[in-house]
Amino acid sequence: MRVLVTGGAGYIGSHVVRQLLARESEVVVVDDLVTGDERRIPGVPVVRADLADTAEMPRLVRALDGVDAVIHFAARKRVDESVLRPEWYYRQNVGGMANLLSAMESAGVDAMVFSSSAAVYGTSEGASIPESAPTEPISPYGQTKLIGERMLTDVAAARAFRSASLRYFNVAGAGSPELGDTAVLNLVPMVFEKLDAGKSPVIFGDDYPTPDGTCIRDYIHVSDLAAAHVAALDAIVEGRIEGNRAYNIGTGAGSSVREMMSAIAEASGIRIEPRIAPRRDGDAAVVVADPSRARDELGWSATRGLRDIVMSAWRSHELLVAGAHG
Ligand SMILES: NC(=O)c1ccc[n+]([C@@H]2O[C@H](COP(=O)([O-])OP(=O)(O)OC[C@H]3O[C@@H](n4cnc5c(N)ncnc54)[C@H](O)[C@@H]3O)[C@@H](O)[C@H]2O)c1
Repeated sequence: MRVLVTGGAGYIGSHVVRQLLARESEVVVVDDLVTGDERRIPGVPVVRADLADTAEMPRLVRALDGVDAVIHFAARKRVDESVLRPEWYYRQNVGGMANLLSAMESAGVDAMVFSSSAAVYGTSEGASIPESAPTEPISPYGQTKLIGERMLTDVAAARAFRSASLRYFNVAGAGSPELGDTAVLNLVPMVFEKLDAGKSPVIFGDDYPTPDGTCIRDYIHVSDLAAAHVAALDAIVEGRIEGNRAYNIGTGAGSSVREMMSAIAEASGIRIEPRIAPRRDGDAAVVVADPSRARDELGWSATRGLRDIVMSAWRSHELLVAGAHG
């Protein structure tokens, strides 16, 4: 099978590229390398192009020649930045998707796995959020993901086209140390950054209606997430998915911020004394996936727990710090 992976030089994309190569798929990557790094995927052909740039369309169509399916990761992902620069986010993420879909139509490629996000649920909360929960994103970033899903639904209604939109919950960890997340946007890298600076990590609110008072989230190991893409790809190619189908990708089990900090203390050997700050606006108490659709329809379930996630993230962080000082 030949697969074109957009954003394949990024954190999640590179994990998927490696899993595809391990099962002998042919891979071509399209990436503008703004946040990605080609060294994560040695030997893989990379077409360096910004998907949002319509002038790049002919190159994109050529890259799609002979491709069976696309896995589409390329997107900007900073929620805070999307609030400040919504026009640019829509141009990048929605414009990029429109260009990609047009190029796929020209090249006759009719299958896609799309990186969506639990951000499409907005303020929905609970210990078992199903795909049927209301989708009301609260940031332009979340909107771009929901619009992406709707574009896929519309394209699938117009022509023979099948896709899976994977709604990721909280992604962390590393499949191998050199593939870690270098962005400091999520809880695990944020705690590491504080520890590096010799500062106390912050807990925003310890008076939530949860057992230890801190927020609960569903943390998914990036290698499990990568495996979900491969499972979705197979389901599409084998004709088991009709139209565009959304799947929650999480473990179905939640961990609190305090539990996460204890796991980080254990992995790093560093004593952590968090500072308690007031709640942040918009943080729900509990956000955990109901992942049963992915289990039933894709045959996929997460296999790694919090310890694996945190240990692998810490090893990767140590490598990054050693590189910065070496
Ligand atoms: N990391 C998370 O916690 C998380 C959660 C939910 C959804 N997602 C989604 O997963 C996808 C991958 O995220 P990631 O964490 O690997 O981020 P990342 O920044 O490491 O990877 C994104 C990759 O896409 C490339 N890219 C971005 N915009 C592009 C464009 N216009 N044209 C060409 N290349 C472009 C970047 O250079 C990078 O290699 C994104 O779509 C993101 O929105 C991530």
